[in-house]
Amino acid sequence: MNINLIIKKEDVIPIELSGKTVIVIDVLRATSTMVFALENGCKEIIAVSTPEEALTLKKQLRTKAILGGERNKQKLPGFDFGNSPREYSLEKILNKVLIFTTTNGTALINLCIYSKDTIIGSFMNASSVVRYLKGKSHVVLACAGTKGDFSLEDYLLAGYMSLLISKEYPNSSVCEECQKAIGLYKVFEMDMPGILEKTPHGQGLFRLGLHKDIKYCLQKDNISLVPKVVTRAYYSRIQ
Ligand code: MLT
Repeated sequence: MNINLIIKKEDVIPIELSGKTVIVIDVLRATSTMVFALENGCKEIIAVSTPEEALTLKKQLRTKAILGGERNKQKLPGFDFGNSPREYSLEKILNKVLIFTTTNGTALINLCIYSKDTIIGSFMNASSVVRYLKGKSHVVLACAGTKGDFSLEDYLLAGYMSLLISKEYPNSSVCEECQKAIGLYKVFEMDMPGILEKTPHGQGLFRLGLHKDIKYCLQKDNISLVPKVVTRAYYSRIQ
């Protein structure tokens, strides 16, 4: 198994993902929220790239879909939910179709149009995602980053997954960027919330009173679900 790492969505060249299994990573907060919502019984998530697409799709769908996501970390006008995993409780999300759009996470998912499979990764389901990789030949850990910049939290999850992969599949070839990410993960693993609260993204969440999301999104291996993109059009359906 060959493992590669992309540090931000702007570095993705869609055609280069063909034949590969891509794990999409946006720890704060899109992929963590998606994993959590599906774990709580959300029927499916339709990941779209823009709020306009989300609103149009809601009108077109016959089912009673709900709208979730963010721009500038905040809930959008006319939307039911924002992008905090804590909003997606079982009572609110069970059996619902969620149309979801976020600044970086859903845009990255929709860049993976040529991949063999696209998996949604988070700290919560990291071990299960790694177990799912058994038998795969090319795996890409794709970090969303933030508006063209590197995001520490995404890189740390890529490091954690790379470490788990090296242990689970000792014959795998883990790229140099993955090795760097493993090193950084080992440095920060004891106090990830403390470090991430100081980053621009963490500080932004603090200013909006959403800082509890940081610890929430850093819960490790408490969910066994491995969500996958099941169909792709101009949006991606995930179950
Ligand atoms: C994103 O997709 O950019 C994020 O999930 C932003 C956030 O809401 O924290």
